[in-house]
Amino acid sequence: MTTPSGYLVGGLIALYLAYKLHVRLQLSRAKHRSLNGHSRMARRFAAWVPFYEYDEAGFFRADAAPDEVAETRRSAFMRLSDVFATRFKHTAAETAGLAGQISDLEFTSRYRVPFQFSRFVRRHFKTGSFLQSSGGVSVSDLDGNKLYDLTGSYGVNVFGYDFYKECIERGSARVRELGPVLGAYHPVVAYNVRRLLEISGLEEISFHMSGTEAVMQAVRLARYHTGRTHLVRFCGAYHGWWGDVQPGVGNPIAARETYTLNDMSDAALKVLRTRRDIACVLVNPLQALHPNSSAPGDSTLIDSGRAAHFDRAAYARWLERLRAVCTERGIVLIFDEVFVGFRLAPGGAQEYFGVRADMVTYGKTVAGGLPIGVLCGRGRFMRRFREDRPADVCFARGTFNSHPYVMGSMAEFLEKLDTEPVRTLYQGLDVWDERARALNERMAAEDLPVRVANLSTIWTLYYVRPSRYNWMFQYYLRAAGLALSWVGTGRLIFSLNYTAADYLEVADRVMAAARDMHRDGWWWSDAQLSNKSIRRRVLKEMLQARWVAAGRPSAGSAATSPIGSINSPRSKNSGALQ
Ligand SMILES: Cc1ncc(COP(=O)(O)O)c(C=O)c1O
Repeated sequence: MTTPSGYLVGGLIALYLAYKLHVRLQLSRAKHRSLNGHSRMARRFAAWVPFYEYDEAGFFRADAAPDEVAETRRSAFMRLSDVFATRFKHTAAETAGLAGQISDLEFTSRYRVPFQFSRFVRRHFKTGSFLQSSGGVSVSDLDGNKLYDLTGSYGVNVFGYDFYKECIERGSARVRELGPVLGAYHPVVAYNVRRLLEISGLEEISFHMSGTEAVMQAVRLARYHTGRTHLVRFCGAYHGWWGDVQPGVGNPIAARETYTLNDMSDAALKVLRTRRDIACVLVNPLQALHPNSSAPGDSTLIDSGRAAHFDRAAYARWLERLRAVCTERGIVLIFDEVFVGFRLAPGGAQEYFGVRADMVTYGKTVAGGLPIGVLCGRGRFMRRFREDRPADVCFARGTFNSHPYVMGSMAEFLEKLDTEPVRTLYQGLDVWDERARALNERMAAEDLPVRVANLSTIWTLYYVRPSRYNWMFQYYLRAAGLALSWVGTGRLIFSLNYTAADYLEVADRVMAAARDMHRDGWWWSDAQLSNKSIRRRVLKEMLQARWVAAGRPSAGSAATSPIGSINSPRSKNSGALQ
């Protein structure tokens, strides 16, 4: 027989379970509905995706284009391939000499275009990975080609390569007497500390060797001071390659103490307001350009679904609300400004959006071109020890932290920030919005399907007509003398020293490349072709490749897709493109 106290305990347990369920459901509602918002599912899906590729006929008709369009594409492809073979001959040969030896190169060369096309493209377009010089807004390869630099050196290059050469040379001269002595500081450190604390508006600083390390330290300290376990990151945001901030594809194990929430959403704020295990929230302000989407790269351009749009006021309002909730709940708000710091404004994203964080990470550009990660924070969050519990410390070290040469170059960088020419560069930043708008108008006027969205000098291209071949645009741009990073048209980064004439030349080349690509039939479409139909077709191909990989209908037979034949590792003619 159940006693009254039994009912009471049962009732309390039921209430507790109902509360737990409610909190869990709240968390589910605060996830973005895409795979990006569900890290575990994304990893499972990534592990499921089978390899297959198009044979030569399928390559040019992946969208079921008519034969004459496929033929136009084929001859254009071969023509462009010849251009690459002659123009980038030595650079490509030098790169080929390293085949199989540099892991970074092995990886990036495979992921320039969707995998179904990758091997055929690699065979015909030998993109070199060597450069021999830089100057102004261009770089030169081993064949003597001078290319407009749109790589931005991963975002490091804010002011132009000559600026950084000077920082490194003058900075090295400043610290030469001390040389590579580690542990003790060169006196130049005092200036760097003062300036960075002024710029960040924060109280204490630590130096690291990369942005990834600065983020690791920020999160570790937030956990130490709040006594809570979890970090919150927003869907799609990159914060370096440390496991806890990369819970999805790319990390072989699950990050159990990370919540990935829907960016710019009320549901995410609700989670922050109710959960008690959240130590910190990481914000990468670059996401303002494409909230909830990962860094755009051409290897994922299977259709024209890539979207981007920047609304400064809306993002600033979001940050204000986030700030308020973090303050209310004692959650450490971390702005990860490794990418955007010093690019948007001298005071970085805090200044640009008018919102203050508890901790800010900087990196990339701030050491004048040398490797760096910096963490600035409120004093109470930066301490690595407790006065009242001397054994309870939060450890962080790094052999090369505060390296004299890095500090010397950083001092040069920070001094230059205060000079008239650099201040003038910042004043003219609005022109980049105008340039993006004008380029979009030119594209629309010629009925070309390319558009640009921008966060100041950080640009991304997207495509407004369904197509399977948008990734080809990167090769037309390269042939037009524009240097792109391995993510292709996903990210173009301009340095602030681009003059109006430099920019116009780049814009003209982008237009010319788009015209050529259009003429060559890659953007052919008909009424049946939509982003949805493309995705459905690719999914069908994947299922078919899985079927073949599983040995059905019989191991070793070629898979025939609705659009021609595809090769998977177990199909008989899978050697066709090897
Ligand atoms: C916002 C952000 N955080 C962290 C990192 C990692 O920096 P690093 O590559 O120096 O480790 C990056 C690098 O791109 C970044 O963009």
